[in-house]
Amino acid sequence: MRAYLIFAFTLLISCGSEQTSKKKMTYGQKITVESEVANENKTPSIDLSAVGIGPVESLTFTDYNEELAAKGEVLFGQKCTACHKIDKRYIGPAIKGIYERRNPAWVMNIMLNPTEMIKKDPIAIQLLKDYNNVVMYNQNLTFDEARALAEYFRNL
Ligand code: HEC
Repeated sequence: MRAYLIFAFTLLISCGSEQTSKKKMTYGQKITVESEVANENKTPSIDLSAVGIGPVESLTFTDYNEELAAKGEVLFGQKCTACHKIDKRYIGPAIKGIYERRNPAWVMNIMLNPTEMIKKDPIAIQLLKDYNNVVMYNQNLTFDEARALAEYFRNL
């Protein structure tokens, strides 16, 4: 039910409903939300171009690497399931479908640099509000661990 509501809301946003408060949004694939919107408790935007803030500038997937994904799955069980479920909202967002709303580089950066992201990245700031100000603290993942997780998310 909740997933349905979120979906309906996303549609509403992408249809460009009139908003009066101060914010900057471009409709379509890229939606940039400034932090003023944060209080409105809106469903996070879809932004496939933003790469976030952190060590990863770009990530282009090639052939799916099953072995790497299997490592990611183990890590996910160890470090992430306290707050994330695959297919439904929990303490943090559902992870399934992540690449339909986020650039792979952004996903890498939220894993590797969450503390700075939730302070400075507009999408992460919005997510923080939407998830009751629960902070995704830094899990001290190595680059390779984050990359394995990113691979695992491809095939959920
Ligand atoms: C303490 C709880 C917690 C843990 C542990 C945690 N997260 Fe998060 N995560 C969150 C919350 C809450 C958010 C939303 C942003 C915020 O409020 O900080 C989030 C956001 C995310 C997002 C962005 C989701 C979106 O829809 O854009 C990804 C990806 C993510 N986390 C991956 C992970 C991975 C991978 C791990 C394990 C290595 C992990 N998280 C561990 C709480 C957590």
